[in-house]
Amino acid sequence: MKNEEILKRLRDADGYVSGQELCAQYGVSRTAVWKAIKQLEKEGFIIEAQNNKGYRLVEDKDTEVFSKAAIISYMDTKWIGKKLVFRNKTTSTNIDAKELAESGEDAGLLVVADMQTAGRGRRGHNWEAPEGQNIYMSLLLRPSCHPEKASALTLVMAMAVLEALKEITKASCGIKWPNDIVINNKKVCGILTEMSAELDGIHYVVIGTGINVNQTTFAEDIQDKATSLYLENGVHYNRAQLVARVMYHFEKIYELFEKQWSLAELVERYNRDLVNCGRQVRVLDPQGEYNGVAQGINEKGELIVVRESDGKTVLVYAGEVSVRGVYGYAI
Ligand code: BTN
Repeated sequence: MKNEEILKRLRDADGYVSGQELCAQYGVSRTAVWKAIKQLEKEGFIIEAQNNKGYRLVEDKDTEVFSKAAIISYMDTKWIGKKLVFRNKTTSTNIDAKELAESGEDAGLLVVADMQTAGRGRRGHNWEAPEGQNIYMSLLLRPSCHPEKASALTLVMAMAVLEALKEITKASCGIKWPNDIVINNKKVCGILTEMSAELDGIHYVVIGTGINVNQTTFAEDIQDKATSLYLENGVHYNRAQLVARVMYHFEKIYELFEKQWSLAELVERYNRDLVNCGRQVRVLDPQGEYNGVAQGINEKGELIVVRESDGKTVLVYAGEVSVRGVYGYAI
């Protein structure tokens, strides 16, 4: 019996669960159950114990516990996130996941942290990663596809985050190509995918995801383009549950992607949530910037843009190029 199993049992129960029932269910002694309860309390869970009734988990926004047991107790996947490394504080979960990949860990491993001291964003930017507020996580994959197909994985993760956010927050969020999640034209999630590969094969891919969940303030220079779920909805969210729901949706969407290592079956769904779709965008190509109207993505995850200057259709490939809204960050 694992602590997270007891945790899940208590959460799913409507009221108290007797010690006897827990002993019988897991085939352990009363002392073992008591010890597990004490360990969960040490992690921060509030568990009421009553002599004749048993145990009851007390959960509300002030008792949110972000820990390995908390995340696993919500996890509902077959292989994604089944092995979980949780760090209270680390440099960057992407660095951790890459190290673990190099040491031979299997695909599906998930590294989650409560705080990062050297969080990294795309194109060499930093990623603000304060303690106790947000989600910082990196997923290890070892896809057997050609390396050039792997960049689409970042869009798969964006779709998974979006699905989880819709489910849990009911907020109206969308995707800014290729992989930022936005609410009210501000970014609430960023994804950094890194790969180790040879010309014709992938060693591993690490998809790093940062979700601004309960953060209340942002540095002045990013205030106008960054936000959190809390700031948008006025509600504190349970991060452990959110991590587990993202992994659940990732597994489902990845199954569709890996059939042909293509987004073919996902294009329509992605485009429905793409805030840039049918709108004017500014393409920040290092070879020369231009405006155009975004038409949506193709099965490779490239953004199809009709260029304003000559009406030509251009395929924009993520990598070095980024896209902005003409009026604001996303649209
Ligand atoms: C972006 O610039 O939009 C990407 C941000 C990615 C941040 C996440 S937080 C977890 C993982 N670890 C990192 O150092 N970066 C990614």
